[in-house]
Amino acid sequence: MSSASLRCIEEGCLSEYPIHYPHLLCSACGGLLDVQYSFHLPLDAAGTKAAFERRKLGHLPADLSGVWRFHELLPFAADLSQIVTLGEGNTPVYEGRRSAEYSGLESVRFKHQGMNPTGSFKDNGMTTGVTRAREEGAAAVACASTGNTSASMAAYAARAGMRAIVFVPAGQVAYGKLAQALEYGATVVELEGNFDDAMRIVREFTAESGVYLLNSLNPFRLEGQKTIMIELMEQCGWRPPDWIVLPGGNLGNASAFGKALHELAELGFIKKMPRLAVIQAEGAAPFYELAQLPGGSNINPVGHPVTLATAIRIGNPVSWKKALRSLAWTGGVVEAVSEQEIADAKAVIGRDGIGCEPASAASLAGARRLVSRGLIERSADVICVLTGNLLKDPDYTIAYHSGKLAFEKDGKQMVIHGTMTNRPVRVAADKDAIKRTLDR
Ligand code: F0G
Repeated sequence: MSSASLRCIEEGCLSEYPIHYPHLLCSACGGLLDVQYSFHLPLDAAGTKAAFERRKLGHLPADLSGVWRFHELLPFAADLSQIVTLGEGNTPVYEGRRSAEYSGLESVRFKHQGMNPTGSFKDNGMTTGVTRAREEGAAAVACASTGNTSASMAAYAARAGMRAIVFVPAGQVAYGKLAQALEYGATVVELEGNFDDAMRIVREFTAESGVYLLNSLNPFRLEGQKTIMIELMEQCGWRPPDWIVLPGGNLGNASAFGKALHELAELGFIKKMPRLAVIQAEGAAPFYELAQLPGGSNINPVGHPVTLATAIRIGNPVSWKKALRSLAWTGGVVEAVSEQEIADAKAVIGRDGIGCEPASAASLAGARRLVSRGLIERSADVICVLTGNLLKDPDYTIAYHSGKLAFEKDGKQMVIHGTMTNRPVRVAADKDAIKRTLDR
């Protein structure tokens, strides 16, 4: 039987705590905690992989979840019959021909986490986070969010019969996401401030009230997000690609992906380490700045993060130390891309018949940059992770296609050039007029 504990990630500390330790940070030094395992798998790697595969044909909720069918690699839950699940994960991998052409690659694939029950990768982490909250006997859960975390937490809390309280930056959350949180019954607190303010407030609020915190500094959420990589490796026949490219905001995914790949390599499930490329929006890129400094070891928060990709409008990411470790484990890199690049990449992904929300498109925009810089070879095997569904942020998409997408920078209005705009055409309700328009 494998065993689980919590361990501080700070090299000089490494304090250990039992799995039921009621705090999310190290009480000795305030550092982030990892869920740490001593793995004793009942089967060898090949046998365990076969068990993962077989469960897809199963009937139990844990078998049908693309998170819990990998439970041997996240062995912290006491009772798999008590999980809170919406059948998350099991997301597709798509080839993108136009996207490959656009980025200068011979081919590119997308792991589409936007095909989750609430439309984002947050569901992978929320099934484990809310399951953990239930094990702790929590009656209420809370998070700060740029939108997707709140939508996902609200849904899973509703399934578990818990109260959900979400703190979001007022006026900065895409409509699809806000609509979800409201519909799933969360108490939505719109704060006058940005995400980083909301994060500070929710930490204070949960510390005082005892409400269970479900941001990604909760290590149990990251355990669920690990399965995005486990499932991806399975989809690649356990032959890792050369590069995995993902957007970076609060850096929970970057942290979880690195931990997953590190554990898979240690357990002998994969023989090669793929490299992670974390992509930030230029106006919200503290992790990119940190990675540019040789030996850089401290993040310099961005006071006023700016990007139309509101999901990653984050200036002070909580998981940057874990993300730094992921770069070290995987030979990873960080890149930053402009608003124009994100908008164009998103439109190209749409033309491949796939689509995604703005933050997700930073992945393809970043891959393109890294190819043009010669860091990623044209013939490399590259997988971009699309983190959220196209329908999350319809306002952005409509604005782009009508040539009205704009943002403010240093007090100036910056307009995005709609290089791939696709405006609707208005025609009289007349057969010949329609024919003339279509022939044009
Ligand atoms: N993509 C999407 C669609 C997101 O919603 C987020 C984060 C990210 C990328 C960045 O991921 O934080 O793991 O680096 N959204 C959070 C939220 C902050 O509140 O929904 P990360």
